[in-house]
Amino acid sequence: MTAISFARGAPSPECIDVGLVADCAAAVLERDGKTVLSYGAGGGYGPLRELLAQRHGVDPGRVFVTTGGLQGFVFYAAVQLERRPGRVLVEGPTYDRPLKILRRHGAEVIALPMDEEGLDPDVLEAELARGGDISFLYTIPTFQNPSGRTLGEARRQRIAELARGHGLDVLEDDPYGLVRFEGESPSWLHSIEGGEHVTFTSSFSKTVAPGLRVGWFVVPEAMRAAYDDRVVSTYISPPFLPQAIVHEVHERGQFEPNLERIRGILRAQRDAMLGALERELEGRATWSRPEGGYFLWLDLGDGVDTGELLTRATEAGVTFVRGADFFAGDGGGSAARLAFSYEPPERVDEGVKLLAGLID
Ligand SMILES: Cc1ncc(COP(=O)(O)O)c(C=O)c1O
Repeated sequence: MTAISFARGAPSPECIDVGLVADCAAAVLERDGKTVLSYGAGGGYGPLRELLAQRHGVDPGRVFVTTGGLQGFVFYAAVQLERRPGRVLVEGPTYDRPLKILRRHGAEVIALPMDEEGLDPDVLEAELARGGDISFLYTIPTFQNPSGRTLGEARRQRIAELARGHGLDVLEDDPYGLVRFEGESPSWLHSIEGGEHVTFTSSFSKTVAPGLRVGWFVVPEAMRAAYDDRVVSTYISPPFLPQAIVHEVHERGQFEPNLERIRGILRAQRDAMLGALERELEGRATWSRPEGGYFLWLDLGDGVDTGELLTRATEAGVTFVRGADFFAGDGGGSAARLAFSYEPPERVDEGVKLLAGLID
């Protein structure tokens, strides 16, 4: 039997509607093949840029459709660290790949501790009061990777106020927000603040397919020229075919129904994980209970080293990512990121049982 993966932050294969993508690809090639197979604007496929610009209420020139969200982060970090050198504030824990990119730049990265409601504005305010130059704050406010936590509405208002009041630049990374199974969506920091200091990014990796590599950035006007320069000097223009496919999915009115289908699959997997954790680990561990997204954060408490547990778990046929990988400094030694996104409910159930047996 192949190992049960709670490590992969990827959708289960069932989430990807290959037929829909194939139909849309054929249609756009037939209709607009010469355009989508040529060079073009560095900011991406015009019609998709316009659709996203409308969604965010900005000029399309501020929207950059990138080859996935992470490539956009590479551009953002390079531009921002150059135009505003200083320390980078991140959540503790945070998504591990940006940490690696920031390390490559030699940036000083400060992890701000979170609680169940996400980043604490008081902690941010205290960090700002320390003075010195800050390049930007990187935050994943909704169904955070890795913790699954969501920043509350009142905290969003305060963080937007702090950004405005202190001229703090913020990168709001929101690839999971639409993958909501229940509850109300909070406001984007970008909308509250108005987009002068807050850059917004998201991706179609979780809502259509990650292999298309289509993400987007909405940058402040002041950043637009430098961002465009980075893009054009990296890949001239991004591949338009996948971007045109995503646009066609919207044009056909298929984006929402497809997303609803994905939500149903992931909801069942999340429910299986929460149910199994309650049965197997109630009273022996704590975990987050996300209303959407891909991940939850398991804390096994002092005395458990999840690095050591991972070695035994891998041998037993179940994997996860150890918590320490998501910290800029110390932390996360007794924690684990469990992805419920990949495995079907029966295997989620089995994987949690295996894991709980090892903790005994
Ligand atoms: C928080 C966060 N940001 C960005 C990304 C990058 O997504 P992509 O490059 O597939 O658009 C991911 C992927 O898992 C993520 O979890």
